Amino acid sequence: MKENDNIKVMVAGDEHTCYATEINDTIQRASEERGTGIARRTDEYIIKKMNEGKAIIALDGDKFAGFCYIESWGHNKYVANSGLIVAPMYRGAGLAKRIKKEAFLLSRKKFPEAKLFGLTTGLAVMKINSELGYKPVTFSELTDDQDFWKGCQSCVNYDILMRTQRTKCLCTAMIFDPVWENKKTEQEESKNGKIVPLKKWFSMKQQVAGYASPLKAKLKLFKRN
Ligand SMILES: CC(C)(COP(=O)(O)OP(=O)(O)OC[C@H]1O[C@@H](n2cnc3c(N)ncnc32)[C@H](O)[C@@H]1OP(=O)(O)O)[C@@H](O)C(=O)NCCC(=O)NCCS
Repeated sequence: MKENDNIKVMVAGDEHTCYATEINDTIQRASEERGTGIARRTDEYIIKKMNEGKAIIALDGDKFAGFCYIESWGHNKYVANSGLIVAPMYRGAGLAKRIKKEAFLLSRKKFPEAKLFGLTTGLAVMKINSELGYKPVTFSELTDDQDFWKGCQSCVNYDILMRTQRTKCLCTAMIFDPVWENKKTEQEESKNGKIVPLKKWFSMKQQVAGYASPLKAKLKLFKRN
């Protein structure tokens, strides 16, 4: 295990495409060791993610230390952070946590309305996701985008997924819904007395939709109460 204080975690760009093969080799070795997980991606795919600014890379100087990329599904309504890998010598020192946090922030920035989700058999990823606010869900809550599920075809457990009509498999599904965060913020604002009366007013007004002017809507509300 190596201390990772000097490791830089950043959004990958064109200048990092030279690491694509090493990233893929490391993913492949880890999949073979675990006997599960998704098979090797093509180098072109990893490079495309970097060119699009949809990947996070961790470097120790110029040495590859870790990686993760983001993918969107179902017309950008769902976003997954996939391909998380930490090079063996950097494991166990919190690097995956840092990479996933950056991927989370990048996903929120690029797709603020999307639900973030992940499928994993790994305890480390479950722990990290929980810390980021993800919750475990059944597969029914995930995207129904066929292209996403096609990605499972290379997993050794694909037959289980098919046998259960895609309702369950060995992976645990986890979701982060941005709506929860908005609700939490509103609750906190309300608790601190910071909630803007106008905001409350507009939500009340919505309840009496059909009333063209705020005054009429307000009158109707008072009549009801
Ligand atoms: C899984 C992996 C990404 C973890 O990377 P890492 O940098 O060692 O993880 P971190 O040090 O950030 O650990 C995060 C948390 O997971 C725990 N953890 C790390 N590896 C673990 C393991 N193999 N088993 C159980 N828990 C583990 C840590 O203790 C930590 O928990 P804490 O917050 O309670 O302290 C890395 O081992 C790896 O690349 N493995 C091969 C590829 C893989 O499995 N990818 C995930 C695909 S879903």
